[in-house]
Amino acid sequence: MIEKLLQEAKTAFQQTFNRVPKWIVTAPGRVNVIGEHTDYNEGFVFPMAIERNVIICAAPAVPEDGVPAGMAKVVSTAKRTPALLKLEGDIQPGPRVEWFEYVQGVIAGYLAENPSVKAESFVAVIHANVPLGAALSSSAALEVSVGTLLEAITGATVDPVRKALICQHAEHEYAKMPCGIMDQFISAMGEKDHIMLLDCRDYSTKLVPFTSPDLSILIINSRVKHQLSGSEYPERRAACFDSAKILGAKTLREVTMEQLEAGKNQLTEVQYRRCRHVVGEIKRTTDAVEAIQNGDYERMGQLMYESHTSMRDDFEISCKELDILVEEAQKIGIAGGVYGSRMTGGGFGGCTVSLIQTSKMDSIMETIRTNYKAATGINPDLFVTRPAQGAHIIQK
Ligand code: GLA
Repeated sequence: MIEKLLQEAKTAFQQTFNRVPKWIVTAPGRVNVIGEHTDYNEGFVFPMAIERNVIICAAPAVPEDGVPAGMAKVVSTAKRTPALLKLEGDIQPGPRVEWFEYVQGVIAGYLAENPSVKAESFVAVIHANVPLGAALSSSAALEVSVGTLLEAITGATVDPVRKALICQHAEHEYAKMPCGIMDQFISAMGEKDHIMLLDCRDYSTKLVPFTSPDLSILIINSRVKHQLSGSEYPERRAACFDSAKILGAKTLREVTMEQLEAGKNQLTEVQYRRCRHVVGEIKRTTDAVEAIQNGDYERMGQLMYESHTSMRDDFEISCKELDILVEEAQKIGIAGGVYGSRMTGGGFGGCTVSLIQTSKMDSIMETIRTNYKAATGINPDLFVTRPAQGAHIIQK
């Protein structure tokens, strides 16, 4: 899959700039298997990188490119207009969130991280097959690939945790989205054939092998656009922090279900439900890791369904279409090869993630495709992926 994308990216670079690229880098999108809206609460998440990538081909600028000194010209195959971005001087977020703001934000972060390192003027083509607005972290993949490109160009590498933090900062400041650390972290540090348990309190990780050919991760895009720059995500986030404060804790990570029940009267009914989701989800995530490690896929699947119910009813971030996809998966059940299913990512659209038996993949996909189309009129996108490698330099 990445071979085809790579070839397309190289061709696009050749056609745009009339030469071959010097540097080629990539970073993947991700799917979160379980642990939703827990990252900014310092809880656990369990994501994996997917076989959908952003690729950047780049080369030093030459006079014919017409790029002013101290700048870079960046072209996205998904957008019409190229962007001229600053590589030095005072860099500030623009007034509107455009695609190139993500790129500029990461450049600004890398320059601030290491002021003595200068990136030479360059031209670049960005090409990707991570679906946009589908809760598969297309923006994190873009940010992390830009960081990786700057490392290839300057030779100055940044510790991967810092790299994820710089990219998260770019998302906060330049994309105006107050995300947690999960997406940038897994895009930077995902390992092939592993799902990663990440403790968002101290950034410690545990790589859980996912290699059995009998099991597959099925991703279904509802094709309902998820748009997180709206108020829902910041509102959920604020509700969590406000509630933690009321309960006398720094974050909800410190709160147990017993403490939540004991403090219930201090919270509004909505705050209580938001907390019940987060506190329950943190526990479900570590339970899920245990289940996977014990080969108890039935238990794993049950936790995925519980996670979905909690997001639908308590955190209220699902939507009708995602609920239909999960219900259809649940109807197929273990007999038909589905262990579990849930919506994944920030919510309000995007994808579901399901744990399925590889041998039954075709019939599962066919059934869900048909029934979802009948119920909603929408043709879903379905694909199976193995846990993929995080960001890396392909050529330098
Ligand atoms: C978005 C954010 C992540 C995380 C998820 C929900 O993807 O970018 O940091 O909060 O939503 O789990």
